Order: sequence, then structure tokens, then C-alpha cells
Amino acid sequence: VTRENTKVVLVRRPTATPESGDFRVEHEPVGAPGPGEVVVAVQTLSIDAFIRTILDERAYHRPVPIGATITALGVGRVVDSADPALVPGDAVVGPLGAQTFATVPGAFLRRVDDQRRPLNAYLGALGVTTGLTAYFGVREVGAVGPGDTVVVSAAAGAVGSVAGQIARIEGGSPVIGIAGGPAKASFVVDELGFDAGIDYRGEDVAARLRELAPDGVDVFFDNVGGEILDIVLDQIKERARVVICGGISQYEHMDDVRGPRRYLVLAERHARMEGFAVTHFAERFAEAEDALGTWLDEGRLRVVEHVEHGIERFPDALAMLMSGGHMGKLLLEV
Ligand SMILES: NC(=O)c1ccc[n+]([C@@H]2O[C@H](COP(=O)([O-])OP(=O)(O)OC[C@H]3O[C@@H](n4cnc5c(N)ncnc54)[C@H](OP(=O)(O)O)[C@@H]3O)[C@@H](O)[C@H]2O)c1
Repeated sequence: VTRENTKVVLVRRPTATPESGDFRVEHEPVGAPGPGEVVVAVQTLSIDAFIRTILDERAYHRPVPIGATITALGVGRVVDSADPALVPGDAVVGPLGAQTFATVPGAFLRRVDDQRRPLNAYLGALGVTTGLTAYFGVREVGAVGPGDTVVVSAAAGAVGSVAGQIARIEGGSPVIGIAGGPAKASFVVDELGFDAGIDYRGEDVAARLRELAPDGVDVFFDNVGGEILDIVLDQIKERARVVICGGISQYEHMDDVRGPRRYLVLAERHARMEGFAVTHFAERFAEAEDALGTWLDEGRLRVVEHVEHGIERFPDALAMLMSGGHMGKLLLEV
């Protein structure tokens, strides 16, 4: 079979918001896999915030070289294999990249059971960058317990929507989501079971927080950073935990990150602020997957997916993630 790969490569490093001219769509024939490699027909890509950061020359995760295919996690099916551990037809998840056919070492991939769950669930509900990130952030870093007042930012997004639901499962009450726009503020309450939603674009976040959490905040699960982080820091309780999951408000100017101006409240209130990368918990991924799978089966966890279509729309999907044009987990079916 002659197959053609369609891939999205980086041609120029964006200075702020990525533009279509920063990327190019290229086509190439798919060859036979080298020793240990497999060819995967990509089904779906996970559109993640870290992708924006690796377009910069200096990045925590490995930067994408100019001319290279953009890194992205994805799910798909093996169509050709030179790795004895994988055979054609196997469903896999891993770093497949922004392309329609990925030729990668089989060792980079994990085989998953797509009889039990739809393949896309391994990027969202059970995805490392979504469900697992929320799980470890809420439980291990935030240590949310019964009666804790919990606030989540980017609450209508992938990680935030799961984090708020796990906080409730762990007994957090009330669980308050902050998101952009009235539709998202009601979405987290009506569809995800949060106790309240604050629209940071249209409402006075500080005033609404004082109303909803008059005694202060025990756990802040922050995905956003910047101004929202300062506003919530002002209202933390003694012994509060501020979880730095991410800071998407800063990702378009990582060489000039604005830190929290209000960090001294941590000293005043004997509180802590702790960051984490989900990869730090790699040896416990199976435990998280089990717990998340059980909550899904019991109907206690709901992961809404927003699916875009077509590999050539990868740059648009990334722009959508950054501007918040989606609710829940943003996916691109190629
Ligand atoms: N620590 C880890 O290991 C780890 C792993 C995965 C992800 N993360 C982090 O988790 C966060 C969420 O990622 P995700 O993939 O789930 O994306 P997401 O939340 O689905 O999408 C990003 C959201 O951020 C919000 N946003 C963008 N710019 C903003 C700004 N200037 N101020 C306030 N909100 C802004 C937008 O929602 P609105 O419409 O509400 O503005 C947008 O929907 C990111 O910070 C990411 O880096 C961390």
C-alpha cells in the first residue's frame, strides 16, 4: 500500500499568538518502519497548552525545531510494524505528532483497550495531560479534603473541568470555577456539578469570591496565573494550598512572565504554593487511570469533548485552545 502522510511543520517561531504563517502543511510518502518502529494511522490529536510553549526556542519541554513536525499526543491504530510488541490493528496512545501517519519507535507508545472505552478517552478523561493531571494536582498537590473551599481557574477547559469534579468527589465544598464568559460559568455548574461559576470577563472576580467563599479559599487549582492568581491569593485561608498546574495567561510571553504580586500572603497565612508536572507522577499513572475509570463508569465524572476536524486545521485548533473557543477537552480528529 502506498500511503501519504500529511503533517504540520513549524516554519517560524511565533512572537505572541501563533499565526497561520508560522506553520506549513506538507505531504510525504510513508515508508516502511525501521527496526523497532511502527507506522500509526493517527485518529485524534490532543490539543494541549504545552504545544504553545514548545514553539519557543527555549522551553521546558523539548522545543520544536524549525522545519519539524509539531509535537502532539495522539491516539491511532498501528498499520505497519517492525516492533515485535505491536501488531497492525493495535490501538495506541503516545507522541504521534501533528500528522496523519506517524512513524515512531514502538517503545514510545502504549497499547490501549479500545473495546472498553472510545479511543479518544485516552487523551481526555484518561489522558496524561488531562484526567491524570487533574487527578494528581487535586489529590496529591492540593490535598483536597471534605469541607475544603476549592477554586479552579480555566474551569471550563480540559484540566480544570476534571479538576473541579475530582475536588467534589474528594469532598470539596463549595467548588467554584472561574472561566471566561457567562456560558462557561453556567456550564461548570449545570453540566459538571460545580457549586458556582464566575465569569472573569464580565464579573468582578474578587467581589464574587468574597460572596461565594466568605471565609476564604482552602485550595486554589490554578491553570491561568497572572491577575487571577493575585486575586485568589488575596482571599486564601490560613494553611491554604495553591496548586500551580499551569499559567496559560503567560504562555505567549514566556521570556517575560509576570509573577504573583501578592505572594507574601503565603507567609501571612502560613499557606503554600506548589507546582507540579504530571510526569513527576509517572510511576502512579495506572492508579490514576483506575480511579478515573471507576468514576467514569459510576457516572461521577463527565468529560465533555470538543472535536475539530482535519489535520490542516491544527494551527486553528491551537489558536482556539489559547483563546478559549472550546469547552471541555479540545481534540482534533485528523
Ligand atoms: N502541570 C502539568 O503537568 C500540566 C499538564 C497538562 C496541562 N497543564 C496546564 O493546564 C492548563 C489547562 O490546559 P488544558 O490543556 O486543559 O487547556 P484548556 O483549559 O482546555 O484551555 C485553555 C483555557 O485557558 C483559558 N485561558 C487562556 N488564556 C487565558 C487568560 N489570559 N486568562 C485566563 N484564562 C485564559 C481559556 O479559557 P477561558 O475561556 O476561560 O479564558 C482556555 O479555554 C494549562 O495551564 C496547562 O499548561 C499542566
